[in-house]
Amino acid sequence: MKKNKNIFNKIMLGGNLFSYAAQNKEVIKICELALDYGINSIDTANVYSNGKSEKIISNVIRKCRDKWFIASKIGHKSNMQKNNLNNPKKIIKNLDESLIRLKTDYVDLLQLHHYDPITPAEEIIFCMNNLIKKGKILSYGVSNYNLDNLKQITKHKKCKILTNQVKCNLIYNNAISEFKSLKKKIKLISYSTLHRGLLSNRYLDKNYRSFRYKNSKNIKKDLNVKFYKKIKIINNFSKKYENMTIERLSILYLLKFDFFFKVIVGIRSQDQLKKLFSKKFSNINNFDFRNLEKKLSF
Ligand SMILES: NC(=O)c1ccc[n+]([C@@H]2O[C@H](COP(=O)([O-])OP(=O)(O)OC[C@H]3O[C@@H](n4cnc5c(N)ncnc54)[C@H](OP(=O)(O)O)[C@@H]3O)[C@@H](O)[C@H]2O)c1
Repeated sequence: MKKNKNIFNKIMLGGNLFSYAAQNKEVIKICELALDYGINSIDTANVYSNGKSEKIISNVIRKCRDKWFIASKIGHKSNMQKNNLNNPKKIIKNLDESLIRLKTDYVDLLQLHHYDPITPAEEIIFCMNNLIKKGKILSYGVSNYNLDNLKQITKHKKCKILTNQVKCNLIYNNAISEFKSLKKKIKLISYSTLHRGLLSNRYLDKNYRSFRYKNSKNIKKDLNVKFYKKIKIINNFSKKYENMTIERLSILYLLKFDFFFKVIVGIRSQDQLKKLFSKKFSNINNFDFRNLEKKLSF
């Protein structure tokens, strides 16, 4: 597994399935196995299963906090609070509550879940920098920020944003070109790397319906004729390489870009983790990937 070490330390486990689709014991086993592979980061949020995801993660990191890179998110744009999500008082309160649930003194990365058009950027930056000084967070980032949002916040001299967490995968990859035009030192973290489970060999069977499909309204509209054409193309491409599947190819595709700080994958069982990471990844050159992108751009 050593040859995959560089790949695996960029993989981040997605925490929204913890509690929702995987319970405490299974999550602990998933995370122990992940550590064996060299995967040591987890992404969560205060809103995931109303804080239960963070509580489960506390059991994972209890005896080995220093082995894990824990990223959490606050300031979700729920119906109750559309604006003013990230005023300093809320940031401090939400972080303190997350730290209690995670049973830790600090998070490695604190991310602002959604853009807040009301709170002045200076106030947010001052507050986040202060949290670093206090040792409650080691770094901070944002999530779901578009280019304009990023430009607004990064123009401030003291801004130390490390990452922007965005939806990005083989089929929906606008974030990549947007990022290139930004020319800033912010890195990306991808979510929906497997397009919530649809980027999978399972969907070569048109009658297949995954756990996520059955449980989420949003996924249904994506399963259209165009989608099936695209996964056939990806599948044919993957057959040229040893141990390659649509899932593994989708992960490898994002890992090829050095500006991805982490690539998040949502996993709800040990079996899913093994299928993705128990085998060595073949090397696919950038030229071949660019050809695949072209074939998928319809
Ligand atoms: N910042 C944000 O606003 C935001 C939004 C969404 C997500 N996220 C983060 O990203 C994480 C992942 O989210 P996502 O659901 O979009 O993730 P995803 O990685 O695109 O999809 C996860 C789904 O992939 C399927 N899967 C996993 N391993 C598989 C395998 N070996 N073979 C076949 N299918 C497999 C599973 O589907 P089945 O369960 O159906 O089997 C799983 O639920 C979340 O946990 C969260 O941390 C952030």
